[in-house]
Amino acid sequence: MASNIKCIGVLTSGGDAPGMNAAIRSVTRAAIFNGIRVKGIFKGYKGLISGEISEFKTNSVSNIIQQGGTILKTARCAEFLTPEGRKIAFETMQREEIDALVVIGGDGSLTGANIFANEFDVPIVGLPGTIDNDLYGTDVTIGYDTALNTIMQSVDKIRDTATSHERLFFIEVMGRNCGYLALNSAIASGAEAAIIPEISIEKDQLSELIEQGFRKSKNSSLVLVTESEITGGALKLAERVKTEYPQYDVRVSILGHLQRGGSPSAQDRILASRMGIAAIRALLEDQRNVMIGIHENEIVYIPFKRAIKKEREISDELLEVLRISSI
Ligand code: F6P
Repeated sequence: MASNIKCIGVLTSGGDAPGMNAAIRSVTRAAIFNGIRVKGIFKGYKGLISGEISEFKTNSVSNIIQQGGTILKTARCAEFLTPEGRKIAFETMQREEIDALVVIGGDGSLTGANIFANEFDVPIVGLPGTIDNDLYGTDVTIGYDTALNTIMQSVDKIRDTATSHERLFFIEVMGRNCGYLALNSAIASGAEAAIIPEISIEKDQLSELIEQGFRKSKNSSLVLVTESEITGGALKLAERVKTEYPQYDVRVSILGHLQRGGSPSAQDRILASRMGIAAIRALLEDQRNVMIGIHENEIVYIPFKRAIKKEREISDELLEVLRISSI
């Protein structure tokens, strides 16, 4: 395989996700294994603009596979949204002799990568690093499994108090406008329902739930809610219950950023390790502007344009599993 790539830069961008460190480790080691130098870019695109960059050796990524967060740090960088910011970022790449980038991040980060790659003809490969699982073309994203487990463990604890007081709980989880975290954590924790943006657009899930008598003989109810203007979020739903259905003793729990932390699960470590190696393979094969995905347990390459623009549909089968298993 002939390649002109002598040095790559690796960065993490957007919200951190468990498994990002495993991905950095794998990208670094795969590059060095193939005779390519690696530079770690700190604080995402911000560091590419300000030049916060260090040469990485194999031991720069020792002992990090089990750590949450990202050793490269991360940021949401407004300057990179401007043509001036991206020009400075390109000049940094030239100065540092970085021939290609591996960008680990979510939807916003890969959108930035796509614009930058087209503007300056830079080879970029993306890894889907986000707990939201909202990228098209990959069955799962790095960090999603760990976040799901963290949510499940939290919901198990909330169930104890919900049952003791016979209360209705709305538990808000992350995901932006994507309902996968709420839906799958509802299934995994035996919750009564999930209120997710994909369905809220079409119907009023709250009144449907309550009017169908979803509590029946149960002495507590847990409802997972995706943070989103479309669902209204847990607080708004609870307010509605207080006025429209005052017979319920309702409480809210917003899980917040604890969902992003913690040591990555085995599944996320393995996924990140596979995807990191695939990213270097893709660059060596002269692939550019693609995101590495996993589909039916095989590595796939998804053009950025498809990964970021296409709506990810929610699975009808999962919706049915929740509906039937919570009767
Ligand atoms: O994209 C990951 C995510 O955790 C979303 O689920 C959430 O909406 C957002 O990031 C929160 O971002 P921040 O940490 O910048 O507030």
